[in-house]
Amino acid sequence: MRTPLIAGNWKMNTSRAEAGVLAGAIKAGSENFDHVEVLMCPPSVWLAEIAHHYVARGQFRHLYLGAQNMYYEEKGAFTGEISPGMVKEVASYVLIGHSERTHVFGEGPDLLHLKLHAAFEHDITPILCIGEDKRTDTSLRNLVHSLDYIIKDLEPYQLETLVVAYEPVWAIGSGTPATPDYAQEVIHTLRGRLTPKTRILYGGSANADNARSFVSQPDIDGLLIGGASLNATSFLAMCQAAEDVVLSDK
Ligand code: PGA
Repeated sequence: MRTPLIAGNWKMNTSRAEAGVLAGAIKAGSENFDHVEVLMCPPSVWLAEIAHHYVARGQFRHLYLGAQNMYYEEKGAFTGEISPGMVKEVASYVLIGHSERTHVFGEGPDLLHLKLHAAFEHDITPILCIGEDKRTDTSLRNLVHSLDYIIKDLEPYQLETLVVAYEPVWAIGSGTPATPDYAQEVIHTLRGRLTPKTRILYGGSANADNARSFVSQPDIDGLLIGGASLNATSFLAMCQAAEDVVLSDK
């Protein structure tokens, strides 16, 4: 049984005050969840403060903090980057290879591969994001090929711990999500390259209205949410949808 993970990626949003209010509301609202893991990924400059006031690493079984990105080196002359050791002090998860990192900042598969290993070495759970730019006849084959390349030498136990987020780029922030059937089909194929224990999320215009239709699919183990995670009410409604699906014995 895979515990659903509902992850909010706040991206480059929130002031310091807004981040505190949002984290506080999500913490309060997630106290009653027993069957889902709730994850907040705020901008890195707010991580330490949110960890200090609301979610210290390892404090809760159902509420976690994640970083949106990190570099793979331990320390040194890498202006603007944050290291795995820094992330580990405040967070349990890290997003690796979000499409905005690959498209806007040019991150490629070799870098993502190094970041994955660095996350495992520091006991940070990586959430590897992958998704096709356009839906074509070959997009699924290409997706499988890039997943295989990035995870090529992970140990079996690492493949079980890894979280993968399938995020079709055309669905991110567009208001047009994939259909749940299509997401299920792709995620089922990706699972064939991973393990039965690996959690695979869907991301791309997920919201409170469509959350249940995704998480009730047999292979979809949660959501990676951008826009709708900035509103505590809608984010918590999506967590509730996942909790309800578990309780209804998907
Ligand atoms: P969205 O973003 O929910 O705003 O489409 C998803 C993501 O980029 O993780």
